Amino acid sequence: MKIAIHQNEKMFKHESVWIPECKEYCREHGIECDIISCYSSDIINKLKNYDAVLWTIQNYVKADTMEARSILNSAKEIGLKVFPDFSTSWHFDDKIAETYLLQAIGAPIPKSWVFYMEEECINWLEKEAKYPLVAKLRCGSGSNNVKLLKNFAEAKKYAHTMFTKGLNPTPGVLYKAYSKMQSSKSIKMAISRIKKLPDFLRTRKNAKRMGTESGYCYFQEFIENNGYDMKIVVIGDKLIPLCRNTRKGDWRASGGGDVYTDISMVTEQILNSAFETYDKCRFQCIGLDYVVNKNTGKGLIIEMCYGFDFRALSQVGGYFDREGNWHEDKNLSIPREIIHYVLNH
Ligand SMILES: Nc1ncnc2c1ncn2[C@@H]1O[C@H](COP(=O)(O)OP(=O)(O)O)[C@@H](O)[C@H]1O
Ligand SMILES: [Mg+2]
Repeated sequence: MKIAIHQNEKMFKHESVWIPECKEYCREHGIECDIISCYSSDIINKLKNYDAVLWTIQNYVKADTMEARSILNSAKEIGLKVFPDFSTSWHFDDKIAETYLLQAIGAPIPKSWVFYMEEECINWLEKEAKYPLVAKLRCGSGSNNVKLLKNFAEAKKYAHTMFTKGLNPTPGVLYKAYSKMQSSKSIKMAISRIKKLPDFLRTRKNAKRMGTESGYCYFQEFIENNGYDMKIVVIGDKLIPLCRNTRKGDWRASGGGDVYTDISMVTEQILNSAFETYDKCRFQCIGLDYVVNKNTGKGLIIEMCYGFDFRALSQVGGYFDREGNWHEDKNLSIPREIIHYVLNH
């Protein structure tokens, strides 16, 4: 067996855990592994020499969001195993697509609305919407493109912008730096985060090529919660949970970096709905973001993505099985779980 892993990390100073841990897995299992660039013009021919290709598509890299899935789906036609495959990736970085899919399979989600015409949208905002209302761009991560609209006047302005000049999805430097610093628990953590700012600036430079988002409005009901959301990852028969506190003075958790694991927070409803969503959607690997309604205790999926912070999730150091039993596993490694799943299915 010979596999190819696409190298995106060249763009970044801080290598992700993805490539070294996949390489290590291959070494242990006697699998030949090449690190390649899928951006070469004769990539489809080159891929004919492999049995599998893996790629962690990045949402702020335009070439990735444009063509990674076309290359992977074409590789699948040649007969390669691919990660992420079609079912796992077709809705990548598109919260509206994710909502349609989650509605189709009957997953627990907040009430959601999508509008493609300004008049209809403003009419709904005036007559039917309840405030505060959550507005999201389709794309982005780290809470950058997620807003809370407090009243009709604010919502009308937001909608008008979305149906005229649009909004730029590029993450703001100040918001990023501020939230990272604020959630750092020690000087050491703060310094290590500052060191990663050049990577963020490179991501941002890439993101600036993404173009503005316009011509639609996507809203969710605001779920009253106790100040955290949960990243629930499912790979095969394992479920790995990470709790994330909202930023101080903010209602948003994602990207804040204040994370911990408390396994008692994974209710039966969350565990069962996460495995069910994973199975029904035929995912290879998925990260489901749950917000827990503080009045009903019900976990609702606010978005999902096969990509997430592999390092933070590996550090959880354990997983739930499908019966809800917790297994300590200090050597847990998300990249190894993914590559193992992909090569054996
Ligand atoms: N409908 C909602 N109700 C309450 N809080 C929400 C809702 N949607 C998102 N949030 C909060 O906003 C954060 C970012 O939203 P999310 O949709 O996960 O976007 P991102 O792609 O930026 O992570 C979440 O981590 C959560 O804390
Ligand atoms: Mg999120």
